[in-house]
Amino acid sequence: MILPIYLYGSQVLRAVAQEDDLSDREAVVKLIGDMVETMHHADGCGLAAPQVGVSKRILVVDGNDLTDRFPELKGFHREMVNPRFTFESEETSSYEEGCLSIPNIDAEISRPARIRVHYLNTDFEEVEEDFEGFAARMIQHEMDHLDGILFVDHASPIRRKMLSGKLMGITKGNVRTRYRVKTDKK
Ligand code: NI
Repeated sequence: MILPIYLYGSQVLRAVAQEDDLSDREAVVKLIGDMVETMHHADGCGLAAPQVGVSKRILVVDGNDLTDRFPELKGFHREMVNPRFTFESEETSSYEEGCLSIPNIDAEISRPARIRVHYLNTDFEEVEEDFEGFAARMIQHEMDHLDGILFVDHASPIRRKMLSGKLMGITKGNVRTRYRVKTDKK
C-alpha cells in the first residue's frame, strides 16, 4: 500500500522515534513492505518510518536507481529495524542530498565516510554491517530521521538561509510533487 509522505514542518518528522518492541512482527513486515512500495512510487532511494507518520526506528534504503552515478549500488537494498551506529569514522565526505519530505531542495552535506550499523533484518536476525560511500550516506540520512533530524539541519548557515523561503513554503504545503504528501494541516 502506497502511503502519503509527511512534509517538512510536520511534527512527526521532529520527534525522536521509539524502538519497535517486536511484539507484532507481522505489523513490522507489513509496514516495511508499504515503505518500500511508497519509496519506489516516489522514485526515492530511502525512507524512514516517521516520513509515513510512524514514529518507530525502522528504515529502508535502495540504491538501484542511483547506479548511473554509483555503479557499486547495483543490488543495494536494506531494510533495518532498530538500527544503531557501532562505529562512525572521523574521516568525512561531502555530497549533495535530497529528501522526499523536502521536495525540490538539495544541499551539500558532510557526514562520516564510513559507518558500522547494528540492526535487525526483516527475518529479525541481528546483523552488524559496515558501509561506505553513498550507501553509508543514505543510511545516515535515514538514521537522522529516526532522531527528528533533517538533512537541511546539517547544511551550511548560508545554504540554510538561502533555502529558508522554500522551506517555509513547504511547511505551508506550497509544493508540487508527483507523489501523495501530507502535512499537519491537511
Ligand atoms: Ni529524508
